[in-house]
Amino acid sequence: MKLIKLDAIDSTNDFLKGLSATDELENFTVVTAENQTKGRGQMGAVWNSEKSKNLIMSVFIKDLLVSAEEIYNFNVATALAIIEVLKTYKIQNLSIKWPNDIMSANFKIAGILIENNFKSNGSISSIIGIGLNVNQTNFENLPKASSMAVIANSTFDKDELLILIVERLKVNLAFIGSNPDYLWAQYTNHLFKKEFPMAFKLETEKVFMGIIQGVSKKGKLIVLLEDDRVVEYGLKEIQML
Ligand code: BTN
Repeated sequence: MKLIKLDAIDSTNDFLKGLSATDELENFTVVTAENQTKGRGQMGAVWNSEKSKNLIMSVFIKDLLVSAEEIYNFNVATALAIIEVLKTYKIQNLSIKWPNDIMSANFKIAGILIENNFKSNGSISSIIGIGLNVNQTNFENLPKASSMAVIANSTFDKDELLILIVERLKVNLAFIGSNPDYLWAQYTNHLFKKEFPMAFKLETEKVFMGIIQGVSKKGKLIVLLEDDRVVEYGLKEIQML
């Protein structure tokens, strides 16, 4: 692993993207920063993180032979890596809110932003961005967010967390080739609100009740509806309320 430590940057994902366009980057080159001025989240959202308190990192994955159909495996491998590491710190009630928010009870403590570059030779290079709330304790404007420090009433070493997450990510990415079923079983076991009735909202603003059954191999949420139909929804189609 090659580690690049920065003080401030717009976004560690963007920084790594820029580097990979010009340099021959090593597999598992990792960038971390104390502060991001333009941290990005899923679906064009902003990722806010108090300076120096949290883990902000991006990992470059080089030339993996994974088809576009199997690309959701990267989310599965990454979300599980975070869960597995957090468990060793005794963070309670961990789950993965589809597609890949890491939750402790009903609070989000980490987010993942994966950006893929499909090469003409059929391989994929990816940038796996992770924001993990570690030592931030003030979430005044973010009522649904929390951190390891708030949950465990302690502070944690960000560098140690980074190393453990990268190690676990390597193991899990190798499972994509050797034993994807194991990864999926673990991912499904940790799915937030699986088998609980809950409300969803469609793009059309229509609200309905359903029960999460799981996630399809392509990353769609599988929901059992009140009329007994089982429907798969993509990321932009549905929102959990
Ligand atoms: C989300 O939950 O919406 C995803 C958040 C991802 C945030 C991380 S922080 C490191 C990396 N750089 C970014 O700009 N975003 C990701």
